[in-house]
Amino acid sequence: MTDQAPAQYQGPQRVLSGVQPSGALHLGNYLGALVKFARLQHEMECLFCVVDLHAITVWQEPAALAAQTREIAAAYFAAGVDPAKATVFAQSAVPEHSELAWMFQCVARLGWLDRMTQFKEKSGKHKERSSVGLYTYPVLQAADILVYKATHVPVGEDQKQHLELTRDIAGKFNHDYDAPGFFPLCEPLIQGPGARIMSLRDGAAKMSKSDPSDYSRINLTDDADAIAQKIRKARTDPEPLPETAEGLEGRAEAKNLVGIYAALSGVSEADVLAEFAGQGFGAFKPKLADLAVAQLGPVGERMRGFLADPGEIDRILAAGAAKARELAAPTVAEVKRKVGFWSA
Ligand code: AMP
Ligand code: TRP
Repeated sequence: MTDQAPAQYQGPQRVLSGVQPSGALHLGNYLGALVKFARLQHEMECLFCVVDLHAITVWQEPAALAAQTREIAAAYFAAGVDPAKATVFAQSAVPEHSELAWMFQCVARLGWLDRMTQFKEKSGKHKERSSVGLYTYPVLQAADILVYKATHVPVGEDQKQHLELTRDIAGKFNHDYDAPGFFPLCEPLIQGPGARIMSLRDGAAKMSKSDPSDYSRINLTDDADAIAQKIRKARTDPEPLPETAEGLEGRAEAKNLVGIYAALSGVSEADVLAEFAGQGFGAFKPKLADLAVAQLGPVGERMRGFLADPGEIDRILAAGAAKARELAAPTVAEVKRKVGFWSA
């Protein structure tokens, strides 16, 4: 039995994540994803892609898409991702993602996709008019991750269900093709106070690129005045801040602002409350605005700096894609052999 494959994945630890080039990045993307990317590059091998194939599941202006892709890459760099350490590339430049996604479409079950809440939210009342790609979107996401046999995936909380589906697909593939331990069951890296940043206008809705109100979010490119004004106008309640986190239950807007303060300053919610307990929002908001400006101002500035040289971004993305393909091609070749294709 010595040549039997191990039941558990034995390969190296590797991180993969992606952000869609479908609009301006906001504080939720920054705290839920980008900050973690920059930290992880010192701990593990990392690949970060700009998921332009995912972006076109809803309409994107062809004349703008390439520039939007460079903008996300610039945001990665501005947040501290170093292309000398992490591989940064555009998803569409690595065709192996799409190829593996097809094979996974034949592994995933309709019932699994029917449960995906993000599709239900994004397709709204007119499901039948949504693209088929919007429905199979999480299968492509699984391919993004598994084509590199990534073991860790840093994302915000809204992606939890998609990562569970990724694990289900990996497990079913390993089982159906008698290949135990071939694909890893990846671990989501979600924890932290920035995992779910809510809208500044409505504590029950997450901060989102697609919210029609610009006052609902802080964009990475907002200047100091815009950041301060949005925080000043953020919805709150008339009560002072409580002494403990339990006192924030039922106060979604207050909880969100305290969470943002904690995430931006790198301390716990309890520490923030220890400092501000008993104070009202009239005192807390200016402190939060100062902190947000101090943290985000330089990120926006660095982003503009990178965007001033699109040629350099393109060179980094091209080199990243070449490296990513070297890792992805052997996985697709192995999968084809396991499936039994004539061409394999
Ligand atoms: P997207 O803009 O949908 O491509 O999301 C990019 C990354 O940002 C993903 O890891 C999301 O989970 C994360 N993200 C998006 N919105 C939020 C939010 N409001 N709070 C925390 N993380 C978020
Ligand atoms: N679905 C993710 C989002 O909307 C983006 C994404 C695509 C992703 N492929 C991925 C995230 C792979 C992590 C890993 O935020």
